[in-house]
Formats: sequence, structure tokens, C-alpha cells
Amino acid sequence: MDGMHFTTGNDWPEADALVYDDAVKVRTDHLYDRVKDVVTPMEWPAFAPLIDAINRLKVERGATILAHNYMTPEIFNCVGDITGDSLKLAQVAAEAKEDVIVQAGVHFMAETAKILSPDKTVLIPDMAAGCSLAASITGADVRAIKAAYPHLPIVTYVNTSAEVKAYSDICCTSSNAVQVVEAAAAQWGVDTVIMIPDEYLAKNVAAQTSIKILTWKGSCEVHEQFTAQDIDDLRAAHPDAVILTHPECPPDVMAKADFAGSTGAMAAYVKDHAPKKAILITECSMSDNVAVENPGVQFVRPCNLCPHMKRITLKGIYEALRDMKHEVHVEPEIAAMARASLQAMLDLPRLTTPPHFDTGKAAVAVPYVSV
Ligand code: 13P
Ligand code: SF4
Repeated sequence: MDGMHFTTGNDWPEADALVYDDAVKVRTDHLYDRVKDVVTPMEWPAFAPLIDAINRLKVERGATILAHNYMTPEIFNCVGDITGDSLKLAQVAAEAKEDVIVQAGVHFMAETAKILSPDKTVLIPDMAAGCSLAASITGADVRAIKAAYPHLPIVTYVNTSAEVKAYSDICCTSSNAVQVVEAAAAQWGVDTVIMIPDEYLAKNVAAQTSIKILTWKGSCEVHEQFTAQDIDDLRAAHPDAVILTHPECPPDVMAKADFAGSTGAMAAYVKDHAPKKAILITECSMSDNVAVENPGVQFVRPCNLCPHMKRITLKGIYEALRDMKHEVHVEPEIAAMARASLQAMLDLPRLTTPPHFDTGKAAVAVPYVSV
């Protein structure tokens, strides 16, 4: 643990021994009020003692919890200190004042936090919380791409390992992908960039810009499952609903939606436009969390679960904080190289409103790199 020592476990019981007594009820009733539309009264007595213990442990440990939009509502709304999309969580991780960051999200997010805040203790409740995109490419793959295309910038989605980021030129998230691709092309004086590893994000970005894109055969196992037929069926069943998609969806899905953007952009759209009915084509917990903020909006929920995000539980967060365990480390040389790619992204001008993708654009051919 980076120079810090904690008494672990001694004063805090096993998770199963925490009870929902009157004191816990008094300390958590206001939180239940917040999530009562998405957490049942049957579930709450199991959640409340963990929420109460986590919130007290955070103070004791000097910790902050960064919670991604795909966290279940009891995590997102009741213990998350900072919530949002991948870009916001990376920005906050770079600036956090607390000594301890608990990442309520998947491993690449925790690694990003560690890379950007190397002196902090970064914990993840479950080390096995991976990502199909991060698993689709290795550092050796990126070195091979670099050797084959030394004259082109490599734009890498943050959903990748530290080593993959290390051999890339600049990172992006779904919130700033078009901005990053255009900035990289301008900086290198080229009309083509390599965008890895999500082929659907790359194709969706290519439809928004005149920059040509080469990509990699990776995809998100959650978003790739949605089909254009799903959107047609939803449209027929709910003609009065606004359909929002994430740019990790295949292009023919995005083409049929009313709006497309990062999880942060989707949440901002619902807040700003207050549609009567909304359908979020993305991970399941997103609708719950956006519903909490927008009680007047009716949500249809044709969602897919991310098995990796769902590894993060209240019990796991409690045990991580109690025992200061599952600390994320990144080898210093790799971290320094990965930080340069992340910093190149963070140094671009911050966009005030989360940008969206224009869903009406024609599809563009996006070849794979040949390595
Ligand atoms: P954003 O929150 O950046 O839209 O990313 C979605 C995602 O799939 C993260 O794993
Ligand atoms: Fe990875 Fe998709 Fe899960 Fe996000 S939703 S962590 S991109 S598998």
C-alpha cells in the first residue's frame, strides 16, 4: 500500500453480521427515499446496513467512491460520491483530493484512476471485473500496429489495459471520440487515424467526420447484442418513446435511434428534454439511475446486463474498504507511458455539454488494420 497503513478489519464485522436496526434506519431513511422507485422495500433491509457501514468507513479511511453509470441504483445513489460516464470518472480521478479511491466500475477504470493518481491507493471491489473490449487487444497487438503504420496516430478507447494505452498515442471515451479523432489527425497532419479496439465505435465515429478510420475487431458484449430489428420492434410498440443508443452499438442500431451518445450524454439528454417516455439502448442499471433523477419520465427497459459491472456489489465495496483490499497497481514505466496517452486526451478543450452522435449519417467503410 503506497506508504499508508490502516488497521484493517478489527473494528468492523463481517458483512453478514451487519444488521438493519433502528440506528441504521434513522441514518439511511433519506437514502431510501431517493431510490424508492427502483429498490423494493423487501430489498432495502439487506442493502441499508451495508450502505451505512460503507458511508461511515469512507470517512474513517479518507476515501471517495467513483461510481459508473452502470452501477446498480443502491451503489450509484447511496454510496457513490462522484458518478458519471468514463470521461467524467477519469477527470475526477486525476483531481481527487482523497487519499483512497474506490472504483465502483470495471478494472480498466480503476487502472485509469491509478495511472492518473499514482500516489493514491486505488481499490476495486472485485479484480475480476473485466470488459470484453479490454480483453480483445494486448500491448503486443498495439506494438504490431505501430510497426505497420508508424505514420498514423493510434487513438485508443479507455476500455483497454494500461499496456494497450501505453503504446497508443491518445485515449478517447465515447464522450469525446469524434473530438479526439479530429484532434489527432490535425496534430499528425494526416487524413487517417487508427481507432482501437471497438469496431462499432470506430464505425459510428467515421460516420460523423471526414477523417478516415482503420480499426480492430473488438466489441462490447453488452451493446453488440442489440439489433436493428429490436429498434423497429420497440418503435412499433412504443411510437411515443424517444430511443437513445450508446455508440458501442452496431451502426445499423444507432441509425434507427433518435439520439446517440455516451452514458453521460444520454443522462443529460433525458434531463434536458424530459421526454414523456424514453428507451435507453444500453446496460440495465442505466435506466434505473436516470429514472431516479427524472421521476416524470416513463422508461421502457429493453436492457442487457454487463456481467463485469455486476461483479461490483455493496458487499464487495464494504469488504474492500474494511480490509483495504484489491489494490490496483500499474508497473511505473507502463503507467508513465499510459499517462501520456490519457493526459493527451484530458488536455483537449473540455466540452461543456456532452456531445452526441448524429444518428442520421450514412455508414462509412472502416477497414481493419492489417497486422
Ligand atoms: P461511457 O460511460 O463512457 O459511455 O462508457 C460506457 C461503457 O460501456 C463503459 O464500460
Ligand atoms: Fe465493457 Fe461493455 Fe461491460 Fe462496458 S458494458 S464494461 S464496454 S463489456
